[in-house]
Amino acid sequence: MNPRILTLVAALTSLPLSAAEIDQEQAAARAIAASFGGQLQAALKPALQQKGAVAAIDLCHTEAAPIAAEQARRSGWAVGRTSLRVRNPDNQPDGWEQAVLEQFEARKRAGEAPASLEWFERVAVEGGTELRYMKAIPTGPVCLNCHGQQLAPEVSARLDQLYPDDRARGFAEGDLRGAFSLRKRLD
Ligand code: HEC
Repeated sequence: MNPRILTLVAALTSLPLSAAEIDQEQAAARAIAASFGGQLQAALKPALQQKGAVAAIDLCHTEAAPIAAEQARRSGWAVGRTSLRVRNPDNQPDGWEQAVLEQFEARKRAGEAPASLEWFERVAVEGGTELRYMKAIPTGPVCLNCHGQQLAPEVSARLDQLYPDDRARGFAEGDLRGAFSLRKRLD
């Protein structure tokens, strides 16, 4: 068995939450990630169709963080997105997220379906524990407008203005674009 899974099992059995409670927390995290993704898509699609890619970039720029904050307020989980190649430097992965993103890439190479990649773990932190969950985000056709290999000149120009350190271009359909990342402190 994967040593990380053994560590996880050891952590689970030594801590107060029951296996059923852990299952519930994981299900909750999964549902919040799905709802967050759905909200982002619901905002993005009409903007792209009706106003074009440049206006949709501005929408992602201003709305992604407030939508995440609203999800967090409602659910009690901190919600965000991250990637091995970020556009917004605020989304840079921490060490734990980096390891999970690399694990997702390895599992994808080993043949797992990108859309089903997820990871849930209890992590010991100073003074307590935290539940952490990540769910992979595959690159679909619509994403290529702003994350693909060939961008329209006006799209590139707007991205250059807003994100001078943008590393989130050059993706192909089916690549892992990144992941949803959720965390909740247990007291
Ligand atoms: C209209 C342009 C546009 C389209 C289309 C688009 N994105 Fe993005 N994406 C952005 C912008 C702008 C950001 C930075 C948002 C911010 O400032 O937080 C971003 C950020 C992200 C991030 C957060 C990590 C990072 O790089 O900062 C992920 C993950 C992501 N996009 C995935 C996708 C996926 C998957 C699709 C297709 C379903 C998609 N995007 C389609 C413009 C776009």
